[in-house]
Amino acid sequence: MPLVPLSLARRFGPALGPLRALSAGGWLQEADLDCLLRLLHPVLRLNRVFARVESRRWVADDMLAIGLRTNGNARGWRPGQHVRLYLELDGVRQGRSYSLVSVQEDGRLELAVKRQPHGRLSNWLLDRLEVGSVLELDPARGDLDWPQDASSVLLLAAGSGITPLLGLLRQALARGFTAPVTLLHYVRHRAQRAFSEELQGLMARHPNLQVRWAISGETPAADELAGRFQADHLAGLPSHSLLACGPHGFVACVRDWWQAEPRDGRLQWETFTAPVSTAEAGQAVRLRFARSHRELPGNSAANLLEQAEAHGLRPPHGCRQGICTGCTCQLLAGSVRDLRTGAMTHGPGLPIRLCVSAPVGDVELEL
Ligand code: FES
Repeated sequence: MPLVPLSLARRFGPALGPLRALSAGGWLQEADLDCLLRLLHPVLRLNRVFARVESRRWVADDMLAIGLRTNGNARGWRPGQHVRLYLELDGVRQGRSYSLVSVQEDGRLELAVKRQPHGRLSNWLLDRLEVGSVLELDPARGDLDWPQDASSVLLLAAGSGITPLLGLLRQALARGFTAPVTLLHYVRHRAQRAFSEELQGLMARHPNLQVRWAISGETPAADELAGRFQADHLAGLPSHSLLACGPHGFVACVRDWWQAEPRDGRLQWETFTAPVSTAEAGQAVRLRFARSHRELPGNSAANLLEQAEAHGLRPPHGCRQGICTGCTCQLLAGSVRDLRTGAMTHGPGLPIRLCVSAPVGDVELEL
């Protein structure tokens, strides 16, 4: 039972400044201070960001928007960024990154979580997270920003790629952005059109906004586009500035389209699934995990995070997309290939991100 309400706990933030200075100078242990602070309220900490779950609402058949209120340490966060959220499941700390759909000045924020076929943490959040629960969040990251000076903006989203773009769009319209904005959201089924009611409401209130959905898994209605992303869908649309977000294959197609001819505007993109390796697929390799004292069979196609997990190891991780650095680990011997760029890293002693690195031959990891 909290000794103080969350609204009051949030006001302690500035008063904690002297304690932060003492902790930074080594005079006080942050962990000890956090133990005392959490007695006042479960979300209160010196520096770390904790948040209480305030609401849950389904925004599509397979997507849940989670309303949170943070403890006052989430400074400078913006819609469109992503945060890594932590939860302990069966004694194992799990982390996953989600986009910020909204950020309020009073510490309220909203994340959206999509159901994943094998997404242990995501599916637990959808099915079992309760209002009142307390979660830890890492600092927000991400560079997507609204092109305030653009003469027109084109937003292309696939699946849960809608979430950061909606966050940016909401904020831009609320701040009076009046240039034409077109949003195309690609989904497989109509029931996956996340936030569709809100988007229709925004269209009704903002004549400069047009939203269309593209459906690939069922017959589209007359006002919908058919199939996956294709250049025809963009015919006649203003595209001075383009923001794209979705799976790697989708974003790669959009980038190819953008780069096919010279353009004046600016392209920003973000992808949330690691690309699949095609080169050397299936080549057998040996994986040595130094701290675990294990040597195991692996392959040169899959990323090292998945391969380690398949053997029962539990490397720390977050986004699984090469963004958060949560899976960084030292490469002690051998070489790995970055699955996003193809860039090679050769050991020993260099840090690699397990979730986007595939081994090229035998490797040894400090794990
Ligand atoms: S888990 Fe985030 S970079 Fe690998």
